[in-house]
Amino acid sequence: MIIEPRMRGFICLTAHPKGCEQNIINQINYIKSKGPINGPKKVLVIGSSTGFGLASRITSAFGSGAATIGVYFEKPPKEGKTASPGWYNTAAFETEAIKAGLYAKSINGDAFSNEIKAQTMELIKADLGQIDLVIYSLASPVRTNPNTGVLHRSTLKPIGQNFSNKTVDFHTGIVSEVSIEQANEEEIENTVAVMGGEDWEMWIDALKAENLLADGFTTVAYSYIGPAVTEAVYRKGTIGRAKDHLEATAFTISDKLADVNGKAYVSVNKALVTQASSAIPVIPLYISLLYKIMKEEGIHEGCIEQIQRLFKDRLYTGDAVPVDEKGRIRIDDWEMRDDVQARIVTLWKESTTENLPAAGDLTGYKKDFLNLFGFDVAGVDYQADANEMVEIPGLV
Ligand code: NAI
Ligand code: NA
Repeated sequence: MIIEPRMRGFICLTAHPKGCEQNIINQINYIKSKGPINGPKKVLVIGSSTGFGLASRITSAFGSGAATIGVYFEKPPKEGKTASPGWYNTAAFETEAIKAGLYAKSINGDAFSNEIKAQTMELIKADLGQIDLVIYSLASPVRTNPNTGVLHRSTLKPIGQNFSNKTVDFHTGIVSEVSIEQANEEEIENTVAVMGGEDWEMWIDALKAENLLADGFTTVAYSYIGPAVTEAVYRKGTIGRAKDHLEATAFTISDKLADVNGKAYVSVNKALVTQASSAIPVIPLYISLLYKIMKEEGIHEGCIEQIQRLFKDRLYTGDAVPVDEKGRIRIDDWEMRDDVQARIVTLWKESTTENLPAAGDLTGYKKDFLNLFGFDVAGVDYQADANEMVEIPGLV
């Protein structure tokens, strides 16, 4: 069928299999062009189908020759109805990996559940024995705690004061004022329950109890800090509390890994257009300004460039992993450069509906957003009939 983007709010309801496939091929080619990485050989990626997790799986496989297992939560296709983009991404990735002689299998389901953890561990036991890297890259609005059965919902709210600032609707380009009421204690706790480190620790505990972690094991989860303009709603808001918890959990996990000479890290990544970040107020305006500046400076990166740098220049250099004063790996270093952030402050004040097309990179934002769903990808014929019923070769 002919597949076109169908937007609803911050999401796109359709995805293009050929566009997603082309995105994967582009990312694989990028990783190959950067040369081999002396990195992990057996990798589990939790949240492997889109964004940073997908880039981590591609980098492990095509940079370091790793066998990979991916865990994700994606919607399969039905006749006449497309799958979610992560489904097509995974299908394309596993097709290419298998073609290259690399082991690639995956599990589609709720990573927060005991069942999916058990299923994943069975697969590791049967096929890989032990693993040397776990990337934890989930972004979800909800989590059911498997031990209590309680469903937690995260919120994106400031703490201690109401918040008001500019934002942009990136579909229309309209800059407006958004006001968000401060969170109550329960909302803070729920957000920490969803996006904090508890589930990450559960995964590592479970894997360790089954003796599935190789000597020298590493695990990495992703965090964000960001600029002053988003601080009240992001880093000092509910999601920031969850990130504080995630960062603290790295130390808890590291302590538990001493006997396998293992270590847990948090990597602070750059702001990028993903399905997760598009839903956060204020962030799209910031990203559109940031893209403009970073592209002008020649320091713009997408998920794949970020993760290639994480592996090559931070995790697998052969030397100690460089971290900041809080023990975090920083690949948001170029985003947070003083000159970049100084320009953000100025542009932020000046941003209006009228001048944002010139002051910011709204076009780049929109293109990246469409690309997430496989649309507006160079080299893809969108007039051609596309088969929506794509299968994932390594799906268990
Ligand atoms: P994303 O939305 O692209 O990816 C989320 C992944 O989690 C997908 O593979 C999805 O299938 C999977 N997932 C969600 N719920 C699941 C569930 N219940 N069970 C199994 N899989 C599930 O998100 P993105 O942006 O790559 O985020 C990943 C991490 O990176 C998050 O911790 C996020 O906070 C962090 N990060 C994101 C930044 C950004 O600007 N996008 C910047 C810095 C950090
Ligand atoms: Na991800």
